[in-house]
Amino acid sequence: MSKVWFITGAARGMGAEIAKAALAAGNQVVATGRRVDVVTKALGTSENLFVTELDITREGQVKNAMEAAINRFGRIDVLVNNAAYGHLGVFEETSLDEVRAQYDTNVFGTMAVTQAVIPFMRKQRSGRIINISSAAGLKGVFGGSIYNSSKFAVEGFSQSIAEELAPFGVYVTVVSPGFFRTDFLDLSSVKYSKAGISDYSEALAEFRDFHDNRNHTQVGDPAKLAYVVLQLVQVEKPPVSFVAGTDAVDWAKSVVNQKKEQLDEWHALSISTDGTW
Ligand SMILES: NC(=O)c1ccc[n+]([C@@H]2O[C@H](COP(=O)([O-])OP(=O)(O)OC[C@H]3O[C@@H](n4cnc5c(N)ncnc54)[C@H](OP(=O)(O)O)[C@@H]3O)[C@@H](O)[C@H]2O)c1
Repeated sequence: MSKVWFITGAARGMGAEIAKAALAAGNQVVATGRRVDVVTKALGTSENLFVTELDITREGQVKNAMEAAINRFGRIDVLVNNAAYGHLGVFEETSLDEVRAQYDTNVFGTMAVTQAVIPFMRKQRSGRIINISSAAGLKGVFGGSIYNSSKFAVEGFSQSIAEELAPFGVYVTVVSPGFFRTDFLDLSSVKYSKAGISDYSEALAEFRDFHDNRNHTQVGDPAKLAYVVLQLVQVEKPPVSFVAGTDAVDWAKSVVNQKKEQLDEWHALSISTDGTW
């Protein structure tokens, strides 16, 4: 059955692919982005497509885009919170303004769009919210203090609202992809903290090489991810957490195993805090 989709960051990468897949499946799509002309160039024009301006860090635009979407198609069945970017680098070398900017987009922007759509979905007693997180949201790593922690926030946020909204037939799935071939690691998207402290320089050079070498060579296919999202939206009881890509599945399993090993190793000390009252 045809649904109305609302997608953030639809100008390129996963957002554009999800919009294309949703349109190809006969849905109505509200494709949003910071520049309407770029979104339109990526997706073309059609009766089922409505393109509107949305920088998710701008609350006024969130409200306007949601209102315009409802005016155009009458409802929203699927929200895809896709817009985000990576801020990578060593924490000590990162300014608090850079931290705030990352959270303004990845966390508060995602929350703002979600908060704007919930009243409609709750009243219609149905809806799907797909929050694109990352395998980075499952474990912290060198150079990931800002981006990874922002995606941890997306994971915790999504899991929590999943419990609040399920009674109203609104299902939330947080998708944690591994590396996908988009502009994510391209300097048109990713941001790096300004390096300067020599104590970090060797590890940082390795970190930077690792990411530069993966730019536009990532194994994950965003078009295939888009079809996975389409399937997740169709299943009756979707998972709250979903991992996408072999690398992300391996990563998620190692995270779980490490967690279990740590819990077992420190078990006696962990439970030593219970009061004897
Ligand atoms: N590709 C990967 O390896 C990977 C892995 C794990 C998770 N992810 C996640 O996947 C999602 C999509 O990323 P991608 O891989 O498709 O990267 P991408 O090619 O860089 O696309 C990101 C999109 O987000 C938009 N965006 C950024 N900040 C925005 C803002 N404030 N308001 C509105 N739109 C904004 C960008 O808009 P502009 O075009 O205007 O810059 C762009 O269209 C993100 O949530 C990312 O964290 C990606």
